[in-house]
Amino acid sequence: MNKKFPEGFMWGASTSAYQVEGAYLDDGKLLSQQDILNKKEGFADTTVCSDHYHRYKEDVALMKEMGFSSYRFSISWPRIFPDGGTKINQKGVDFYHDLIDELLNAGIEPIPTLYHYDMPLALIEKYNGWIDRQSVVDFERYADFVIKEYASKVKYWTTINEQNIIVQYWDTKNIVDEKYLNNEQIKYQINHHLSLAHAIACKKVHDYVPNGMVGAPIDFTPIYPATTKGEDAVASANANALRNLYYLDVYFKGHYNEAAFIYLQKNSLAPVMLPGDEEIFKDGYSDFLAVNYYSSYCAKATQPGAKRRMSGVNLTGEKGAISGYEIQPDFYEIVRNDNLEATQWDWTIDPAGLEFSLRYIHDMYGVPMMITENGLGAPDILEDDGSVHDPYRIEFLTKHLAAIKRAIDYGVSMISYNAWTAIDLLSTSNGYKKRYGFVYVNRTDDDLKDLKRYKKDSFYWYQELIRTNGESL
Ligand code: BG6
Repeated sequence: MNKKFPEGFMWGASTSAYQVEGAYLDDGKLLSQQDILNKKEGFADTTVCSDHYHRYKEDVALMKEMGFSSYRFSISWPRIFPDGGTKINQKGVDFYHDLIDELLNAGIEPIPTLYHYDMPLALIEKYNGWIDRQSVVDFERYADFVIKEYASKVKYWTTINEQNIIVQYWDTKNIVDEKYLNNEQIKYQINHHLSLAHAIACKKVHDYVPNGMVGAPIDFTPIYPATTKGEDAVASANANALRNLYYLDVYFKGHYNEAAFIYLQKNSLAPVMLPGDEEIFKDGYSDFLAVNYYSSYCAKATQPGAKRRMSGVNLTGEKGAISGYEIQPDFYEIVRNDNLEATQWDWTIDPAGLEFSLRYIHDMYGVPMMITENGLGAPDILEDDGSVHDPYRIEFLTKHLAAIKRAIDYGVSMISYNAWTAIDLLSTSNGYKKRYGFVYVNRTDDDLKDLKRYKKDSFYWYQELIRTNGESL
């Protein structure tokens, strides 16, 4: 196989605002819901994170040194509109201008995400956030401003990060008032408002950005049948419909996936929609899909009488500590794929699943894709001499990139690869115990230390890979 990637393919990595910036109340920013939710987790909070807000120049210089041609980051809504209302915070606006300029001067294409879980807290206090349709109106004002403001500098836009994860883990990605917690319809209502917000943002990119391209970053997890039994193949199709196609059909077909929507209706879980909503979806078509890929699952048919259950999270880092997988009665039960190795946080490692996913999405929708997240979380060790040896990350990324290359060889169109993450940042489920970066940030959950940056072995490996446009794979 020729390992070279196509001419013009962009190489980079990703971060998100509340996980990397810190400066959580600096220069006029007010709290986001993640500033509150994260404090409950018992690991590092969002106050300082990797202090990227103050050190972005140094961080962009490191990206340049690695040879990045793209960088996917998110814009913090409460940095621009601190209380989610009409008042603009100029210092926040300036920060992203400065960051984008720094990237452009370094030859790096900025790929901003409009929303990465961090809604202004004021909107939760005012009307329970995404639960209320007013959120779409307030998001529209924010998206309108931001897209117009940076239109001349930014070509590629991404909208709402991982709608499917916001649904699956709705009470950790959103502050949800207790009175709603037993009502699972609410999470599909939240999602409906996010779908509208996504489509509205897409339309604005098309309206304001010359040659602009836009898409949503989705956590795409392929779900294989757990056995060769026909019932399990149906369960896998059901799981794929509700966990993947429910979102992708909105992006590319302008309506919810039929089987998934019927299942939700049968179970009184379907969102309330207004006349005209599907027109909004259709007007806000996506140009590409941004794929966040980590692992794969299996599905099997449910037992009679099985109760609905959500997937758990491994919070300890001890293998097997995950508290169970999702069940949707009479539709599917998610199970672990025992053929695969897993990380110590029980995330299965499945490079072939990425090749499968890209081929599948290409066949289903025929759209170009970019990878906006893919990486290995691990408790990296900083040695006394300042080195960090992370062969496991290099192995993980090598295998996933080879899978992407194979998908490209079979006709899949890929714009860019952005590993998760450029530099170490706050993991959403495990703080600084789990690191993803090419650059080590010297801090722990409890001790800020000096936040100094150290290049990991994977930094040099990625640098060489980019230099040879993949040939060193
Ligand atoms: C993705 C999110 O789902 O997974 C990121 O978009 C997140 O925000 C990443 O950090 C890895 O998950 P975690 O829990 O290990 O941080």
